[in-house]
Amino acid sequence: MKVLRDLDVEDKIVLVRVDYNVPLELDDAGEWQVASDLRIRASLPTLRYLREHGAKKIILISHLGRPSVKEQALSLAPVAERLAWLLAEGGGATDEDSVVPPSVDFIDHLDVKGVKSAIDKLPKGGIILLENLRFDPREKANDIDFARELIDATGAEIFVQDGFAVTHRAHTSTDALAKLLPSAAGFLVEKEIEGLSQAIQDPEHPFVVIIGGAKVEDKQPLIDEFKSSADQILVGGKIAADGYKTDDPKIYVAEDFDEDADGNKLDIGPLATAKFLEVLSTAKTVLWNGVLGKTEDPAFATSSEMIAKYLGEHNGEIKTIICGGDTTGFVENLTEKYPDLGFSLISTGGGAALEFLLGNKMPGIEVLE
Ligand code: 3PG
Repeated sequence: MKVLRDLDVEDKIVLVRVDYNVPLELDDAGEWQVASDLRIRASLPTLRYLREHGAKKIILISHLGRPSVKEQALSLAPVAERLAWLLAEGGGATDEDSVVPPSVDFIDHLDVKGVKSAIDKLPKGGIILLENLRFDPREKANDIDFARELIDATGAEIFVQDGFAVTHRAHTSTDALAKLLPSAAGFLVEKEIEGLSQAIQDPEHPFVVIIGGAKVEDKQPLIDEFKSSADQILVGGKIAADGYKTDDPKIYVAEDFDEDADGNKLDIGPLATAKFLEVLSTAKTVLWNGVLGKTEDPAFATSSEMIAKYLGEHNGEIKTIICGGDTTGFVENLTEKYPDLGFSLISTGGGAALEFLLGNKMPGIEVLE
């Protein structure tokens, strides 16, 4: 796979596909704000590299949600604001940095003429984010004419794929564009592939897989996939509470649960948590997908918090790969509370990470090969 370091970006207009499909929430003033900026922060190394290596202009493209027409609630405008903040003081930039943090322009449409004139005005090293690509139905149709139009409007000379979370889709911005321009994977795509591959290719043993979450049909493929390579699989979450059954001696399913006043089993209990910790105390590689309880309620986040803290405190001894939207969100929040926790990879990948782990087709990566 071609990577960013293989390309000469100096004085080039670079089109970067990021995945800024992030949760938004309304603030008290009725404005949309970014609720979790994990995916935006994850794109910074590529953006900083491009600026430090003299890229002429950096044009960012992304989707947000699943609109089929323009929807104000799914505009990327709040993302541009958060990105600008992160690149400046929020990202810890100082006056001594070699490159002064840029502002981030935002253009609230995808019309060729308007995009062209906004990009013409962009200074050297400037960053601009275009509006949600899925406001144009041709994005999901992997339309080569839409790709040509984007190249024409932006003047892009190079394409960088850094939206790992969308590389399982064959869309205009993951496939067609990469076929028309010299293309490479950005640092996030590289990091995700490397991190997730630790679990697939020859993991250091004992290798333990933790499965939680709610839907058995989503989790069974992962259990099947890792049944032979894992030394132990630990099952918690709603699937265990709903009575997941197996005869496989390698698989331990939580047996006791914390319940609410109505008897609903909302977290794995102390015996199961102790068993999980005992198994993890010998592990060298851990893959964790799915929270172990109803973590949005702090009363039922105990086991997930204990496991995450144990793994985060043993970073270095244990390679821990966290994936799946609910698990990464939970662990990210915990690292804000306990900044010393460390993990090999907190994947931004969501569904893409699962597809990758299951060895399924990743059109957005294959096209870079
Ligand atoms: C995700 O959040 O999983 C990615 O951004 C992909 O989004 P999609 O499932 O709407 O294609």
